[in-house]
Amino acid sequence: MTLLRDDALSAAFDHGSRAYDRLVAVNPGYRRDLRRSARRLGLAGGGRGLRLLDLGCGTGASTAALLAAAPHAEIVAVDASAGMLERAAAKRWPANVTFVHAPVEAMEGTAVRGRFDAALAAYLFRNVSDPDLVLGTVRELLQPGGRLAVHEYALGSGRLHRAVWSVVFGAVVRPAGRLTGDAALYRHLNRSVLEFDRAADFAERLRRAGFHGVRVLPLPGWQTGITHTFVARTPGVARGRS
Ligand SMILES: C[S@@+](CC[C@H](N)C(=O)[O-])C[C@H]1O[C@@H](n2cnc3c(N)ncnc32)[C@H](O)[C@@H]1O
Repeated sequence: MTLLRDDALSAAFDHGSRAYDRLVAVNPGYRRDLRRSARRLGLAGGGRGLRLLDLGCGTGASTAALLAAAPHAEIVAVDASAGMLERAAAKRWPANVTFVHAPVEAMEGTAVRGRFDAALAAYLFRNVSDPDLVLGTVRELLQPGGRLAVHEYALGSGRLHRAVWSVVFGAVVRPAGRLTGDAALYRHLNRSVLEFDRAADFAERLRRAGFHGVRVLPLPGWQTGITHTFVARTPGVARGRS
């Protein structure tokens, strides 16, 4: 099976959107860990006066995490899947949150305008055809000194992490995907986790893309060594800081 990309991946997420929130609800720590990654952006003052991007927002779990970390910020949440976005937009949001239907590779001409102070990308980069291109776009969209948090399956260097992932996938995720009629999407998930950058390699990719201050932070529970938060910033000094 090849990885799903672009329109084929969006179609799979459109279908998967019907059961997505139910699967998230039984994944221990899913929302808690997103909130942790959003907090790792270190946004001051509840985000007052800041503009934030949620890239690959899905059904809104990562958007809710950003909102919890920065309730006063303007938040623009983007996703390529109409089905996922419809589920997100149907939830209750304050007026400072807006949703945009677009692939992150083609946001020009959409409501994603101007520069942003920070971006969160949760479970996005493993899914894109050209992560370097998307990192370049994100760098352009961020203010000087702008912050990026990438929350992603990126395995640690040892064999243990790959083995733990394979056990969790085989015992829990694959059966759940079959039950919901989304076997292809969850086969893609497995393959994309196994084939994506190891954590140290993604950190290096961020540096090559021109990000500074790259840090790789662990997440607790079964995800330790499997899912990480990568935090980084664009060169320069952020607004209001010196
Ligand atoms: C695993 S879901 C994660 C959703 C959300 N961030 C969360 O943490 O629950 C990945 C999301 O990324 C979106 N996505 C994948 N590739 C994309 C792309 N190239 N542009 C925009 N969204 C994309 C998918 O449609 C899907 O909604």
